[in-house]
Amino acid sequence: MLPDRTLDGRVAIITGGGTGIGRAIALEYARLGARLVLASRSPEHLEPAAEELRATFGAEVLTAPTDVRVPEQVERLCEETVRRFGSIDILVNNAAGNFFCPAEKLSPNGWQAVVNIVLNGTFYCSRAAGLRMIAGGRGGNILNLVATYAWTGGPGTIHSACAKAGVVCMTRTLAVEWAHHKIRVNAIAPGPVETEGAGSKLWATPEVRSAMLKTVPRGRIGIPEEIAQASAYLVSDFADFITGEVLVMDGGQWLGKGMFGEGNR
Ligand code: COA
Repeated sequence: MLPDRTLDGRVAIITGGGTGIGRAIALEYARLGARLVLASRSPEHLEPAAEELRATFGAEVLTAPTDVRVPEQVERLCEETVRRFGSIDILVNNAAGNFFCPAEKLSPNGWQAVVNIVLNGTFYCSRAAGLRMIAGGRGGNILNLVATYAWTGGPGTIHSACAKAGVVCMTRTLAVEWAHHKIRVNAIAPGPVETEGAGSKLWATPEVRSAMLKTVPRGRIGIPEEIAQASAYLVSDFADFITGEVLVMDGGQWLGKGMFGEGNR
């Protein structure tokens, strides 16, 4: 666990920051002294999360209803952040959308709905925040949430897999392009993580949950707090020499698919 005040005074925008992994990241950054901007398409998720941050850590929090698919809304998010806090030091591109659908049944609109959030939204946010980090001259950190199917392929989620593959490429490209601006760009690829959304959608029955668990060599589901702690390390000065990296946190799940399958157990 990082020492208290590791992110003292840093200004962090977290997209999808009201629930799940995004909320856990916000809580960890607040514990470490950051000032937070929670952005979400669903305004009803924002205020409760902000209140929790204020009540638990006395954090300064701005909430900003934002659809990351709309460049004008992303611009407004970044403008409001700078107006309120003076800078953007950290951007966490956590907002995502996904659903299972065989490729031949996926409509062009379904494809676009997910690619627009995951790939285009990540670029719009990175560009808008990156421009302000560059102008501020103090550097910054961008952290992208991806998935291992970005490189294994994702049967049933072709839209998300292709979009996340684009985000991995964006991570590495921007890491190089913006290194001389002291902006680091990294990613985390979580495996199955215990959130309300994932639990109700992806492993809704005990049978599915137990089948899914067999694919994880470590034998358990991840928890949001461990993703949050690793993310805090990556955006902190302790990770100053790390950029363009994708940290896989999946209990060995994607490696376990090799050769003998089922987590090799
Ligand atoms: N199966 C097949 N097609 C689907 C679908 C599903 N489960 N869900 C949406 N689509 C299609 C729609 O049919 C529509 O295409 P059409 O016009 O050809 O019929 C298209 O996607 C857009 O649908 P819409 O409901 O207008 O999309 P949206 O932009 O409001 O929301 C998501 C799309 C992906 C964001 C939505 O599913 C969502 O909010 N998911 C919850 C968040 C989430 O997925 N979190 C998990 C992150 S890993």
